[in-house]
Amino acid sequence: MRLRIRPASPLSGMISVPGDKSISHRALLFAALADGVSNLQGWLPAADCEATLRCVRALGIEVERHAEDHLIVHGSGLKGLRPASGPLDCGGSGTTMRLLMGILAAFPFPSVLVGNPQLSRRPMERVARPLRQMGADVITTEGHAPVYVRGGALRGIRYELPVASAQVKSAVLLAGLYADRPTAVIEPAPSRDHTERLLRAMGASVEWDGHTITIHPAEQLLPISLRIPGDPSSAAFLIAAALLIPGSAVQIHGVLLNPTRLGWVEAWQAMGAPIQVIPEGEAGGEPVGRLHATAATHLQAIEIAGAMVPRMIDEFPIFAVIATQAEGVTQVRDAAELRVKESDRIAALAMELRRMGARIEEHPDGFTIYGPTPLRGTVVQSHGDHRLAMALAVAGLIAQGETIVEDAACIADSFPGFVEVMRALGAEMEIE
Ligand code: S3P
Repeated sequence: MRLRIRPASPLSGMISVPGDKSISHRALLFAALADGVSNLQGWLPAADCEATLRCVRALGIEVERHAEDHLIVHGSGLKGLRPASGPLDCGGSGTTMRLLMGILAAFPFPSVLVGNPQLSRRPMERVARPLRQMGADVITTEGHAPVYVRGGALRGIRYELPVASAQVKSAVLLAGLYADRPTAVIEPAPSRDHTERLLRAMGASVEWDGHTITIHPAEQLLPISLRIPGDPSSAAFLIAAALLIPGSAVQIHGVLLNPTRLGWVEAWQAMGAPIQVIPEGEAGGEPVGRLHATAATHLQAIEIAGAMVPRMIDEFPIFAVIATQAEGVTQVRDAAELRVKESDRIAALAMELRRMGARIEEHPDGFTIYGPTPLRGTVVQSHGDHRLAMALAVAGLIAQGETIVEDAACIADSFPGFVEVMRALGAEMEIE
């Protein structure tokens, strides 16, 4: 599938975005381990979360699907998973594989986790190492999937994460639910804290202060009834389009406003972007509200490094597009993690944005963009990366002439309906 994009007239409208991907994975996995029936509405029916659903069912959990985004999960308790009859297929989803490794580390039966070629290139030893320290038997294939896990009695540990990764942190915390004593994870910088918040909402004892998270062994998890808020990482593409297209005004309601996910809002506001954040309530221990953006009259370059990086880790592709329109030199450092996402996002961004006329330099741990530069429409590649595909589609809206994003089906990995939402706001995008 390819996307054909024409320069846009102003975007306007009030819309919602599909459920948060990180919370959709966690809500389903934790509900599977709860004592009783959980009700999940607004669950994200995207390819990555469908992989989690497939795995949960393969592990013996009954899940009723009342609508694409409405699941009833019959949890079988913390010890209730049953061995799958074959390998657990995590598709392209790193969250599925890494969180499941943490859970399966507590089960005495052997499991094998496999992924597609893209996921099989991503690092898994970072999860295997702490789980081995806790007492599980975990074997990776030269650091990658397929991964073999055979769990058993686990020891609580104190583990310093070498990288700020919510997926690794979550795997250790989940194993910690089953350990013989409290487990502490120390982060180099705070990463998204959905695991901590949701486990606490389900009755587990989890404390966190700044860099250290401590989890206590649990007897049970309580089932939960949850409306999953909209994904701010999906909202970021719509907000960016509104900022970049003169005359636009876009409002998105029901969005997750967790501060560990909103680094991009702060960064763009600091660049001069008129974005408003309007808190409205709470769901499952998470703040929820509205985002409002109008076109920016002037954007200034910015430097991003250190603790800000994990707070906007998924938004660098669209941030880079914005930076091409900002005045001055935008610098990103301390972001080597971008090289092990769905694609090598530093190399892929530099390659594709250059094709469109951007001035971008690649570094081992980031990039530099010299702006502003007009973008020109051309044929660009998604590299099989959903966030790159959507970022390039937004770039196409402000480029001169027509842009074609090749291999764009991957958008459904996180944001099914992206093109329809864009069109509802007034963008000219066609699927071919
Ligand atoms: C995620 C954590 C982040 C993020 C990914 C989802 C999660 O990955 O990039 O899209 O749900 O925990 P890392 O934890 O590897 O940084």
